[in-house]
Amino acid sequence: MKNPVTVTVTGAAGQISYSLLFRIASGELLGADQPIILKLLEIPPAMEALGGVVMELNDLASPLIQEIVSTSDPDVAFKDVEYALLVGSRPRGPGMERKDLIEANAQIFSVQGKSINDNGNRNVKVLVVGNPANTNCLIAQRNAPDLDPRQFTAMTRLDHNRAVSQLAEKTGKHVSEVSGVMIWGNHSATQYPDIRHATVDGKNATELVDQDWIENSFIPKVQKRGAEIIKARGSSSAASAANAAIEHMKDWVSGSDERRVSMAIYSDGSYGIEKGLFYSYPCICAAGEWSIEQNLAVDSFAQQKMADTEKELVEERDAVKHLLP
Ligand code: NAD
Ligand code: LMR
Repeated sequence: MKNPVTVTVTGAAGQISYSLLFRIASGELLGADQPIILKLLEIPPAMEALGGVVMELNDLASPLIQEIVSTSDPDVAFKDVEYALLVGSRPRGPGMERKDLIEANAQIFSVQGKSINDNGNRNVKVLVVGNPANTNCLIAQRNAPDLDPRQFTAMTRLDHNRAVSQLAEKTGKHVSEVSGVMIWGNHSATQYPDIRHATVDGKNATELVDQDWIENSFIPKVQKRGAEIIKARGSSSAASAANAAIEHMKDWVSGSDERRVSMAIYSDGSYGIEKGLFYSYPCICAAGEWSIEQNLAVDSFAQQKMADTEKELVEERDAVKHLLP
């Protein structure tokens, strides 16, 4: 049996965590042979509800879970953390954009970034799910000066999966036949879901669908899918978000087998995007590292879309300047 690793989940009594924790406990994140110490962070008013979640986790009688620590103290939650899933934060309601959450949520990520810096394992991998995810990730990373910015990522995998699903539906093929879609930029309504380099059943996607569908159906559908779900369900996506979080972290840790995946990561200036922003790029994961796929052709339409979403990220960054040491 391997040595246990520490996985911390914040917002552990919330909706997403209610899907996420049980899948982590069953080995879907790190494998069926990897014992886990699970550390769960919540705010004091949610500790009683978290107690109920812990009872259910105990009732799994999971062979992988070695210990469960529930706490409202970030320094306890992030002690020795190797995998941090930062979910805890307020979700948006109907009629809001994700960036409307900046004020409510930004502070959370400055506190947690500092705490991960001071308490976490030096090789910690961080995934930010809480919205606005890219900018929250930037805040956490900037408050963790002793860690490599590459250790921080934000989630656009749900957008990626939504794009795969829409393209499969349109072309009448199964999702398993779709590959190579990518999400550029912000997890927001300015994101650019891009199928110019995607294939369906081995054929170029752009030969199977017309530009009008791409511009006027596909892109807005993926951009606004979160809002569509909030309108229908009365609350934001949860199980699909938990699934995307598992896939993001699993691929990062275990490799994406040369598949292209979308991750919001620290921009090194690739594709002309401002350095230091957390921008979603097409990535390949191998040996516990992500790398940006380089040299993909960018036409003028794509260039404009990539710049529009970059502009929004710059505006969000400027709005949280006071939290960026
Ligand atoms: P939720 O309200 O059900 O749960 C959030 C939990 O976070 C609550 O239990 C709350 O008490 C807790 N929390 C608040 N502040 C905290 C703090 N400082 N420390 C620890 N816990 C804290 O919300 P949810 O549906 O689980 O969504 C969580 C976040 O994920 C939201 O911001 C939502 O918008 C976002 N989200 C992102 C994606 C994505 O693709 N990136 C997808 C879905 C949802
Ligand atoms: C989503 O994309 O479903 C989440 O970011 C929740 C939201 O606010 O849309």
